[in-house]
Amino acid sequence: MKHVILGIESSCDDTAAAVLADGQLLSSTTATQEAHRLYGGVVPEVASRAHLEHIVPVVHQALAEANLSANDLTGIAFTRGPGLLGSLMVGAAFAKGLCIALNQPLIAVHHMKAHILAHFIEAPQPTFPFLCLTVSGGHTQLVRLDDLHTYTVLGQTLDDAAGEAFDKTGKMLGLDYPAGPIIDRLAKTGTPKFEFPEPKTDGLNFSFSGLKTSIRTFLQRNVQANPNFIEENLADICASVQTRIVSILLNRLAEAAAQTGITQVGIAGGVSANSALRQGLTELGNQKGWTTYIPKFGYCTDNAAMIAMAGYANVLNEDFANLNVKPTARWEF
Ligand code: KG4
Ligand code: ZN
Repeated sequence: MKHVILGIESSCDDTAAAVLADGQLLSSTTATQEAHRLYGGVVPEVASRAHLEHIVPVVHQALAEANLSANDLTGIAFTRGPGLLGSLMVGAAFAKGLCIALNQPLIAVHHMKAHILAHFIEAPQPTFPFLCLTVSGGHTQLVRLDDLHTYTVLGQTLDDAAGEAFDKTGKMLGLDYPAGPIIDRLAKTGTPKFEFPEPKTDGLNFSFSGLKTSIRTFLQRNVQANPNFIEENLADICASVQTRIVSILLNRLAEAAAQTGITQVGIAGGVSANSALRQGLTELGNQKGWTTYIPKFGYCTDNAAMIAMAGYANVLNEDFANLNVKPTARWEF
């Protein structure tokens, strides 16, 4: 084994570690933080403290599942950003300490690039150019990938991310955080009978704040007339909101494919776990003649397998980080 990379992810509320040897995934473990449910969203300070508690056991578990010891590692990849600064600092400090102890190189990974590289963890892998819709709790982007290192952002959200649209809707409906998976589940028994507007944006950009406002006024108006409106119509409201979010995403993706002529098309990020988006992409791909790529569930939401994969891509490009590299909450492509 030439390149044995430990990936560490701590950008938000999951602490994760994975081991990848010469591009083969040997292990991937995640500790999910439950405390945020109580607050209806991720509390940065709570997240940082939980990362501190989880990081050592999670790394131990990843090494044990890979049947390796720390001395077998040839590089440590960590999420440098974007994400919550305090959370990123825990992963960065741990990765740096391990690099010094093992005398192995540090590899700084971009979290959103890693979401895209989740497509390269297992076969079948996309060929280039590859068009990827990256949809997470903080980002919504259309990215063109010409090789493992060359990214072009073709469009992105001008305000809220797609995951935020799900989570903020959930908050208005009184659902737990994160609401995306709950809305997905409830929508399965509902009918998309309520119409929400599709925003107008320039180029290949997205906008979700208008949708949020229209959902809020729709709910206020109906709850005023019937205080039980939400309970009585929950599944239909979820189906309607989800249908609109998915159509906003897929319409822009189709435009990007038409403009670029790219036929290798995929989705990535937490929202790519959404069943309507997955099904919608498959149907659209069949209709348009695309080859579509949908990550396994475990590689959609935050995980360290994708960080180790992105770290491996960096290694192949001889792109190592200096030990004084700082984590960063915002990081453009
Ligand atoms: O990529 P991710 O795990 O973390 C970030 O990098 O942000 O994405 C988290 C987001 C949350 O907004 C969550 O509600 C959403 O992904 N999500 C979903 C589903 N599973 C997770 N949204 C819709 N449907 C799902 N099944
Ligand atoms: Zn993410």
